Order: sequence, then structure tokens, then C-alpha cells
Amino acid sequence: MTTSLAPLNLAGQDILSVRQFQRDNLEPVFALTEHMREIVRRDGGTDLLARRVLAALFFEPSTRTSASFIAAMERLGGSVIPITQGVQFSSVSKGESLPDTIRTLEQYADAIVLRHPVIGSAQEAADAAAVPIINAGDGAGEHPTQALLDLFTIRDELGRLDGLHVAMVGDLRFGRTVHSLTQLLAQYQVKLSFVSPEILRLPLDLMNEVRGRGLAVQETYSVADVIGEVDVLYVTRVQKERFTDLAQYEELKGFYVIDEAIMAAARRDMIVMHPLPRVGEIDPRVDQDPRAAYFRQVQNGMFLRMALLAGVMGKA
Ligand code: NCD
Repeated sequence: MTTSLAPLNLAGQDILSVRQFQRDNLEPVFALTEHMREIVRRDGGTDLLARRVLAALFFEPSTRTSASFIAAMERLGGSVIPITQGVQFSSVSKGESLPDTIRTLEQYADAIVLRHPVIGSAQEAADAAAVPIINAGDGAGEHPTQALLDLFTIRDELGRLDGLHVAMVGDLRFGRTVHSLTQLLAQYQVKLSFVSPEILRLPLDLMNEVRGRGLAVQETYSVADVIGEVDVLYVTRVQKERFTDLAQYEELKGFYVIDEAIMAAARRDMIVMHPLPRVGEIDPRVDQDPRAAYFRQVQNGMFLRMALLAGVMGKA
């Protein structure tokens, strides 16, 4: 790029896990994300990835992640092969293996975005592929691009990451965005509060990792315990699709509802985030509150994915 921005050093690389990102290589990603935002606001886009092609292969439902990758690629002048709503009409429904589907798509595309219900599927695809694989969610495993856009949003809204108190609320067991964001935040001097029903607590290995880093950590089932203190309230949906017992899901789904009464107890300078979709966890009346950052978070996703696509395709 013809800017003085630091290189991302992502050319030809997969993006499978947030473990690939350290504090010092996150800053160039954030700087380029800001740059992409300026370009889009000024010109609508650029032709940096003209004639480049991205394949978007989504085996699970998606609105934001698929649309934002498509928008990101198009605003960079490239194009997309969208196999999103059409998996049931593709050869996957004939029983084609994931490696074969990937090895086919890479004959057409310069990179492949994959969402799949099985933990580790993005790694399996990367093992088969010569082109970069971007993990857009592997079951209850990770969702690295979401966590990166979440971290960018916190930094953008509050101006810093160190010194913050972040509370994650809801399904911390199956929520892959929580798993990825927790690992990223653990690199900063933050206090983390995990708010969930007993059965949806953060996986123990992740909890041990966070504690092992010496961070201040709190676990509770009550939003009231933390609401007056937090800088970020990161709310999540109970992940219905990960439950084998739907009666148990029905019991848990309404456990937390962030409403105006709860917001009245929160600090004036905090923000509420949600990876979306929400299914009742945040009352729509909260949307008018300037502290509701979740739709700004959505837009940041496109800018951040523009930066990552430029990076893996060797243009940044
Ligand atoms: C999340 C996901 O797919 O994990 N959605 C998203 O990508 N923005 C969160 C969710 O589905 O609850």
C-alpha cells in the first residue's frame, strides 16, 4: 500500500486462531483498519484487490460475518464466490469431503473463508489448502476475525485496552466469540468478569490460562455484581445449536436481559457490545442509548476484514 503503515506480515498466511496475534502485531492490524475506514468514508473503497477472488464457504447460518467478508472484498475491488446459503445445493450435500471441497475452491480463489460446525475444521481445511484459510467460526471453537473486530471496537470506543474491566455475559461455554476474545484480552492489563449460569461457565482450560497470566478474574451468575464497575459489557446469545437437550436451552435462554433498568446502574462512559444476533438478551430500547455499541461494532467488522484480506493477499 502506498502509505506509511507498518506491514501486517500476513501474506499467504491462514487466520485460524487468535493465538497468532500478539500485542505488537495487533497494532498494525488496527492502524490499517482505521485506514480502511477512512478510505471507505472518503471514496467508498479502493481497487487494492482488483481481480482477486475470495471464496466464502459457510456450512452454518450467518448474516454479518458472510456479508461483511463480501462487502470487505468488494470495497477492495475484488470479488467473491459465495457458497453461503447454497451449501445444500453444492456437492457437499452429495457427501464431498471438506478437503476435496477446499482443494476445488482454491483452483478458483486466492483465499477461502470457512465457517463450519466442527471444532478444528478450519485447521483441517488449512492442512488441505495451498491458499490462505480464514476461520469464520469452527463450532464452539474459535472466531478470530470476530474477536479482532471486538478488540478494535473496544480500543476505538474507549481509547485504550489496558486498565479496562470487561465483563462477558451469557453463554461462555459454547460462545466461540467469547473464547477468542478472552484470549486476546488476556494479553492486556485488564480485569475480566465472567457472568453466566453455572452450566454455561467458561471452559476450565481457558479459565486456567487467564488466571495463569495473573489477571484479575471474577466469576458470578449475576450482572448486578458487576454492572456498576464495568467499562465493557460483552453480551452473548445462548448457543441453541450446541445443545443436545433443547429443554435445557429453553430454560437458559432468557437468563439475562439487559434493559434500561440495568443500564441505569451502569457507568456513563461504559459500552455494551454483542457479536449479534441477539435473541432477547438486549432489550431493543437500549439501542437508543449512546453506550449501545453493537451496530458500530458490526461496521468495524467490515473495516477490520478489509485489513485482514489485504494482509493475507500480500497487499499490506
Ligand atoms: C457469532 C457467531 O457466529 O459465533 N455471530 C457472529 O459471527 N457475529 C455469535 C453468535 O452466533 O451468537
